Amino acid sequence: MRKLTVSASRTYDIIIGSDLLDSAGALSAKVISPCRTVIISDDTVAALYSERLIVSLKAAGYTPELFIIPHGEESKSAESYIRILNFLADMQLSRSDCIFALGGGVVGDLAGFVATTYLRGIRFIQIPTTLLSMVDSSVGGKTAINLGAGKNLAGAFYQPSLVICDYSTLATLPDETFSDGCAEVIKYGIINDKPLFEKLKNPILPQIEDIIENCVRNKRDIVNKDERDNGVRQLLNLGHTAGHAVEKCSDFEISHGSAVAIGTVLITRAAASLGYCTADDVQQTEEIFKAYNLPTKCPFDAKSLASVAQGDKKRAGAKINLVIPFGIGSCKLVPTPVEELEAIFSKGL
Ligand code: NAD
Ligand code: GLY
Repeated sequence: MRKLTVSASRTYDIIIGSDLLDSAGALSAKVISPCRTVIISDDTVAALYSERLIVSLKAAGYTPELFIIPHGEESKSAESYIRILNFLADMQLSRSDCIFALGGGVVGDLAGFVATTYLRGIRFIQIPTTLLSMVDSSVGGKTAINLGAGKNLAGAFYQPSLVICDYSTLATLPDETFSDGCAEVIKYGIINDKPLFEKLKNPILPQIEDIIENCVRNKRDIVNKDERDNGVRQLLNLGHTAGHAVEKCSDFEISHGSAVAIGTVLITRAAASLGYCTADDVQQTEEIFKAYNLPTKCPFDAKSLASVAQGDKKRAGAKINLVIPFGIGSCKLVPTPVEELEAIFSKGL
């Protein structure tokens, strides 16, 4: 079992280990005294893991109720959000009670946003069950729901009280969803962790605890420096400017992880053509994504990608901060006029 501590607007631990669900009650009770609680989960994850969590919480003295949403991104909606708030209000959950988020990034983001706003803030504990949510979304306090106009458009920064990362739950994850998480793992290696990138050349599963800890440490260090995403945290958007455009151009048929892989290769190739990194960096980047069954070829043209990317919510006025690789393990933010995006993307295609 490993433990890391985030020191942001709230200080909290991330506990990483195998079969932690059975001790989740005892671990949580060290942080939040046993109370009434609502576990928010999706139908797939609840069927697999909610019973074990409920048994563990009851044994520690909690009184848990379960609220289940349908699995999938569509549930990260205003409708689910309001339904959950009404459920909490009807059961008169109070500020001394708490919420558990049991699931992937969809459940974590939604439950986190509920926790931020219900009674102006109620404590919550993240129990991530996908690789992506273990290494990225459960840590750092970005909570959100989607609006008709786009993803994550309503949200808040609100840190959990504890993250319990039980990687034995990954055993039931579909291969494609696991690969999606691998794209985010590889991302940390390229941003600022060359030793992690090298480790990923060996099979990931035998070293999964180490790899998750490595990623969480990277994310923790970034969040400690820039909780509110005004600077260094934006490095976590490597491959995401083009990647989001790929997702949108495909009508979300291309998954987020696949789009990040395509976007990262594209921006690395563009960086090499601009002289920031080398052809060898491009080759290594392509090879690592391929090794994790992720795509590297972009099916859309630069004009289509640029027209979507110009509406990116991370745009600041006429510029957007592009994350540019200067080598494996070394990325920098480069403020870029939005009208240059098409030319940059075309260098990457
Ligand atoms: P997800 O939550 O939709 O989970 C993917 C699928 O896997 C779902 O169908 C789910 O039911 C299933 N699943 C989850 N755990 C399982 C398990 N252990 N066994 C079997 N099936 C399981 O997707 P995700 O990739 O975890 O998260 C994507 C979301 O995360 C997006 O909404 C994205 O915007 C958000 N996100 C947030 C942050 C952040 O910082 N808050 C960062 C990255 C991504
Ligand atoms: N996943 C990006 C961030 O947390 O900032």
